[in-house]
Amino acid sequence: MAPSADQVKTVTLPSGAVMPLNGFGTWKAPREVTTAAVLAALEAGYRHIDCAAIYLNEAAVGDAFSTFFSRGDVSRSDVFITSKVWNSCHARDNVVKACKQSLRDLQLDYLDLFLVHHPFSWEFAGLPITEDNWVRRDANTNICWGKGVSLEETWRGLEDCIDQGLVRNIGVSNYSAVLLMDLLQYARIKPAINQCECHVYNTRSQLRDICKQFGVHFTMYSILGSGKTGPLGDETVARIAKEKDASPAQVLIAWGLAHGSSVLAKSTHAERIKQNFESEEIELSQKEVKELDALDRELRCCDMVEYWGFASHA
Ligand code: A2P
Repeated sequence: MAPSADQVKTVTLPSGAVMPLNGFGTWKAPREVTTAAVLAALEAGYRHIDCAAIYLNEAAVGDAFSTFFSRGDVSRSDVFITSKVWNSCHARDNVVKACKQSLRDLQLDYLDLFLVHHPFSWEFAGLPITEDNWVRRDANTNICWGKGVSLEETWRGLEDCIDQGLVRNIGVSNYSAVLLMDLLQYARIKPAINQCECHVYNTRSQLRDICKQFGVHFTMYSILGSGKTGPLGDETVARIAKEKDASPAQVLIAWGLAHGSSVLAKSTHAERIKQNFESEEIELSQKEVKELDALDRELRCCDMVEYWGFASHA
């Protein structure tokens, strides 16, 4: 049985916004199936949807929001929606432009959360972000880096988005503890969230501890291992799943929730989406959580070397 809206686990962010911990991810969802997947997620009960311009599917996500909200059963304010500014839009005014582009694509008039997607800046190459302009390369195929754009400038752009009423909360993704400490020195509006890869094969306990210490909520992305062989095929996960009469995916999600983090799981299959949403029903014992913690092997399922040739993770 899926939890009802008032039963779901939530976190209250410093702004007072309430974010459901169990979130739905849209990375790697092909455009042609994205609208149906997001609709399935909202119909299953998900009230936290994670998006980004670089996923190249925000317009398809927007079609799902438009359809779902027009039914009138659930209002916009009942769903927590995130997007992220892409590396090529880090200049202060481009951050605001990128935010407005995501709002147009998602068919929304505000975002609940806007994140710096990665902690580095590339040369601006146009909006919207497409397959053709997501990264500009020179004649030697080297990436064209943003000139004179610091992370502080980018953060000012995110603060502008709050001041202009475009977004309610701001935060970061893929930030190491060091970058986060630096951000906390210059932030007028403190980051509410740090969203990083995290699962039982890469538990990020030190980074999570530091986030907790500084009041930055930690969101785990790729909680299922992002389609790579790993956590979903693990024997210990399988055994605990069997004992709980649950699926391995549900155990992985329940582990993240047991740590008080928010989690993002992606699927484009309605049955899995429903199953993943119902993970909140699985209560793991302290012993099971510890057993799962012990699976840590610092495995990167999302290695950015595959995408742009260098590691850039927190
Ligand atoms: P699919 O979209 O075909 O369902 P992550 O959330 O870590 O990025 O992982 C997403 C990957 O896990 C995708 O390959 C997705 O496939 C798969 N997946 C999502 N939910 C489940 C599930 N309940 N059981 C098995 N695999 C799942």
